[in-house]
Amino acid sequence: MSSLTRTPPQPSSGEPSSEGGEDAETAGPTPTGTLSAAGAASAGSASGTPANASGRATPGRAPKRTSPTRTLMRLAPFVRPVRARLIGSALAALAASAAGLVVPLVLRAIVDGPMAHARDDSVHGLVVPALLVLLLGVAEAGLFGVRRQLTARPLARVEGALRDALYRRLQRLPVSFHDQWPSGQLLSRAISDLATIRQFLAFGMIFLFVNVATFLIGIGVMLSLAWSLGLVTIAVTVPLVWLSFLFEGRYKLVTRRAQDQVGDLATTTEEAVLGIRVLKAFGRHRTMARRFLAQARELRGTELQKIRLLATIWCVIVVLPETAIGVALAIGVVQVAHGTLTTGTLVAYFSTVMALRWPVESIGYLLANANDAASATTRFFEVMDAPAAPGEAEEEPAAADPVPADAGADAAAAEAAKAAEPGRGVIRFEGVRFRYADAPPGSEDLLRGIDLEVRPGETMALVGATGCGKTTLTALIPRLYDATGGRITVDGTDVRELPVRRLRALVSVAFEDPILFSASVRENVAMGLPPGMPEEERREAVERALRIAQAGFAHDLPDGVDTQVGEQGLSLSGGQRQRLALARAVVASPAFLVLDDPLSALDVHTEALVEEALRQVLATTTALVVAHRPSTVMLADRVALLEGGRIAAVGTHAELLASSPAYRHLLSTPDTPDTPDTPDDEGAVLDTAAAEEI
Ligand SMILES: Nc1ncnc2c1ncn2[C@@H]1O[C@H](COP(=O)(O)OP(=O)(O)OP(=O)(O)O)[C@@H](O)[C@H]1O
Ligand SMILES: [Mg+2]
Repeated sequence: MSSLTRTPPQPSSGEPSSEGGEDAETAGPTPTGTLSAAGAASAGSASGTPANASGRATPGRAPKRTSPTRTLMRLAPFVRPVRARLIGSALAALAASAAGLVVPLVLRAIVDGPMAHARDDSVHGLVVPALLVLLLGVAEAGLFGVRRQLTARPLARVEGALRDALYRRLQRLPVSFHDQWPSGQLLSRAISDLATIRQFLAFGMIFLFVNVATFLIGIGVMLSLAWSLGLVTIAVTVPLVWLSFLFEGRYKLVTRRAQDQVGDLATTTEEAVLGIRVLKAFGRHRTMARRFLAQARELRGTELQKIRLLATIWCVIVVLPETAIGVALAIGVVQVAHGTLTTGTLVAYFSTVMALRWPVESIGYLLANANDAASATTRFFEVMDAPAAPGEAEEEPAAADPVPADAGADAAAAEAAKAAEPGRGVIRFEGVRFRYADAPPGSEDLLRGIDLEVRPGETMALVGATGCGKTTLTALIPRLYDATGGRITVDGTDVRELPVRRLRALVSVAFEDPILFSASVRENVAMGLPPGMPEEERREAVERALRIAQAGFAHDLPDGVDTQVGEQGLSLSGGQRQRLALARAVVASPAFLVLDDPLSALDVHTEALVEEALRQVLATTTALVVAHRPSTVMLADRVALLEGGRIAAVGTHAELLASSPAYRHLLSTPDTPDTPDTPDDEGAVLDTAAAEEI
């Protein structure tokens, strides 16, 4: 991770006026929103690799110098399905603006016509133009309404599609990607960045086009009304555009910084919430609060920097045209006095200038909005462009899955599971090497040539000192990581040659850390089953798995197996979660079972019950079971000792006790001798529970 550098930040909100204000409010998070992209600039990326809450450097690639337009063009595939509506919406907005520009012409007709030649009954001559002005006003309002109507729902769909794509990508990215990216960064990209993009598509993009077009039409109208006054207006446009581009370049950097800082803040918040018990228990909540405040202050600094930039450009954008208006007024009045310009034309000119105020004044805000969106798009594609896990690039998760599937899950996978021939089932490690991508340079590989065969139907225990790489080794089988050397075969086929779904349907895993999702007990356990299974069979399989894992407690929960658990539901004890995770692993009767220390959180009696039930499952599968305790080792036919990145010894428990001092040392309890003379003494080194069971 440290090899990656943080991506650059960008801007957020501006000061929308008229329509813009409304859109900005309804279209997405506002500058005051908690996770909005609104905030931020500052120090974070100035230092190059700011640390997030976990002390890790924020990932993301160094920003390429790409123009915002080119960046935004990458959204085209997502926008294409709604392009007709977007074009319709832009045309409606353009027509509305054009209607606004006709009003000055009607005013000129009124001033130079009925008003200039006023007689007692001349009021009749005002009725038609007045009605026309009213009609134009109504048309303008109606067309703006149509614009909004055309974009609101389709763009919500575009945002949904972007989020969907991001989510799917996150599912397909390798575990090593998630090791490196703080979750807050991903969260802020999935939430506030996408809302920023939608806001731009719905409002900023359309009005950038409409306002520029309106401005050009307005200039044309002005020149046709009074070319000298029109030239004054054009004279201020040139420096205005130049300054706007200057502003855009600086604002872009600050915006990106702000968005990254929002991600950091989200990470800190998430860690503080998830780790609240630890923080409280160790009295560290103040430290965490200080860290949060420091990051929030940074974000505020960046936001203020953005506001200062916006204020500057705003000032220029307002002052320059106002000056031009003053100059034009002086010239116009002189011309009227000399009779070279009619009063009506002067009125029409100034009405046009007023109608162009919003298009001109909005430029700063719209450029800021475009920059926000470009930066959000860059951040979005940083995740989308990350290489998918090998073999998962084309995998699509089943859309109807109630909860994210991680154990394989479609019809093909179901077939694959069925295809596992009884009697077969060999896992073989051949010279397997592995090192984590972020391992310190120069350090030795974690696994340095693993040679091991788990025979069909055999249960192999994997024993080794803590931190020696047992979990890592088990993660290589379902390809959560790919071995960096050697190969792993399942029934003779290299795991890299099997479709990932098929592999994961064949190999079921219960992890060390039993994660449950915010779903019912039944859904959590059924995640291990292929989708499309008849409901009745599903229920039976879940019941069976719960029995094996001794998870009968689930029936005593308030809604039985339909009780919601996980973060959003009922809190379960560590042992209860472990049993549900075990049930999830065994529910599909997989061909290969990998259990990472599955019984560590259970009391000895429950452990004995689970072991008893587990024996039946292990008898029908090939299994690799990481074991720390003698009682778990007792489940295995043979034991492999992992030491120094290699399999140092393989044999039965008794054989290893006899032959391997390291094994004896690992499995002995402090108050028992660790060097029994003969295998017959093995009971002496087992803990009480295990001894009872034997
Ligand atoms: N995602 C990761 N990125 C980098 N290093 C890691 C990662 N996960 C684990 N490690 C390192 O790899 C080594 C082995 O970790 P592993 O979890 O495989 O050990 P283990 O044998 O399962 O330990 P335990 O018995 O405590 O569960 C440790 O030194 C650990 O710091
Ligand atoms: Mg482990």
